[in-house]
This record gives sequence, C-alpha cells and structure tokens, in this order.
Amino acid sequence: MLADSLRSCTIPVVAVLGNHDYECGHVDEVRAIVRRAGVHLLEGQSCIIDGVGFVGIKGFAGGFGTRMLGSFGEPAIKQFVAETVQEALSLENAMRRTPTQRTVVVLHYAPISETIRCEPPEIFPVPGVFAPGQDD
Ligand SMILES: [Fe+2]
Repeated sequence: MLADSLRSCTIPVVAVLGNHDYECGHVDEVRAIVRRAGVHLLEGQSCIIDGVGFVGIKGFAGGFGTRMLGSFGEPAIKQFVAETVQEALSLENAMRRTPTQRTVVVLHYAPISETIRCEPPEIFPVPGVFAPGQDD
C-alpha cells in the first residue's frame, strides 16, 4: 500500500491531492491516511524543509491564459470558474506567507500550457489552472 511506502520513506515527502482522490468519495479519509503516513499534504498551506519553502494546492481546470474559461453565462460555468479562481488565490496567499528565498510550488493540475504540451490540445481546458501572474 502507498501509505506504508510513504511511512518508511527516509526523506520528507510533500504532496497535494488530485482529482482521483476526490473521485473515490472519501477525500477526508484519504487526507487522514496520507497525513498519518507523515506526508506534508498541502492544500493552500506551506512547509519549509531545509530552508526551502513548499506551497501546494490541487489546482483546478479551466484552460490557460487568454483562452481560459471565463466566468460568463450559465451558473454552472460561473461556479466552475469560481472554483478555479479560489484555488489560484489559495496558492497566491500561500506563496505570500512563505518567507523563504526559494519556494517550490506543488500542483496537481498544470499551471501553464507548456506543462502538458505532449497532451492532445483538445484536452487543454481540462488540466489548466489559472496561476498567479500567468499571462499567455
Ligand atoms: Fe489527475
């Protein structure tokens, strides 16, 4: 089991949840298992390991840059975009609170289109997440 392997790991492990962790319908249990295994599970928080900051969020979908989905039209679209924006703000706030000179950002969803350039372009709106400062 993954938790057993993580528990025996001798180096710090930093993680974020992904969509599959939510799909199971028991995300609170997943969180508890991962945390009991000693993992730094980041959901808008940060941790500092040997002077290096780590901030993490799951992220969310919505596309990239000027082609990302806008908050327009049906309430379901606006709710979808609001979830993406909330994730991005959570990341931005975590980054501001992290006092280290070097910080690693951990995300499940791709923050920029270059991250998924090997994926078919038709799925780009799915893994995209608006990232602070992203402009293309
Ligand atoms: Fe995933």
